[in-house]
Amino acid sequence: MTRILHLDASARPGRAGIDVHGSHTRRLTDHFVSRWHAARPDDEVIYRDVGITPPTPVSHAWIEAAFAPEEAWQPWMVDTLAESDALIDELVAADILVLGVPLYNFSAPSGFKAWIDNVIRQGRTVVIDPGNPDAPFSPLLSDRPRVAVLISSRGGHGMEPGGPYAHMNHLEPSVRTALEFIGISDLRTVAVEHQEDGGELLAASVNAALQRTEAIADTLLQTFPAAALSAIPQYR
Ligand SMILES: Cc1cc2nc3c(=O)[nH]c(=O)nc-3n(C[C@H](O)[C@H](O)[C@H](O)COP(=O)(O)O)c2cc1C
Repeated sequence: MTRILHLDASARPGRAGIDVHGSHTRRLTDHFVSRWHAARPDDEVIYRDVGITPPTPVSHAWIEAAFAPEEAWQPWMVDTLAESDALIDELVAADILVLGVPLYNFSAPSGFKAWIDNVIRQGRTVVIDPGNPDAPFSPLLSDRPRVAVLISSRGGHGMEPGGPYAHMNHLEPSVRTALEFIGISDLRTVAVEHQEDGGELLAASVNAALQRTEAIADTLLQTFPAAALSAIPQYR
């Protein structure tokens, strides 16, 4: 069995093609998961909506708790980190991350950034050791193969790598860096463009994104065998 973490970050609750003013990223993440479930109905899908219910932003208390050595843990620290622990548990359990993340002002929506800030954590997803200058960062999620599928949508166009407006898109590079930092280095990307143009330009981009989403799902169905169920690691 394969576990999928299905995460949506659009502020728009509906799905394009179904709901008025619906989200393209929600349509595509749903398309991936529906295709997967059609092939493997018993596989587990964990759902997290950081667009409608954003994680709590990192606070002073969070930072103090997250960097406290284990022998100094106090009950308030455990409480402060409970939400972060829950988000990390979902991430650690997953084999495939299906991340629907629109481009907002050149980068990710704030709810997704709050998710990133909660799941990159000393001792849980990465070990940071400034005393070891040769290898100051040790990712903890490279213990088994994990793949992230980053599905985005943008109002403009030409923001793919090498495109004329790539410099106005910091989303994919920042997500790639963040996930590699904790040990997830296999990132596949899909993007709708021309949302603001609409019409045939948008329709062609949506069709290409749907096909690419299907191709990635079909490839990963081969990569992740049907029978293997990874044990959920227990921390703390
Ligand atoms: C707050 C906000 C900021 C946006 N910033 C950008 C941007 O920097 N570049 C761009 O091409 N499109 C931008 N857009 C357009 C969205 O990327 C586009 O509407 C996309 O389809 C949203 O994803 P969704 O359809 O999943 O909701 C922005 C939209 C919003 C609401």
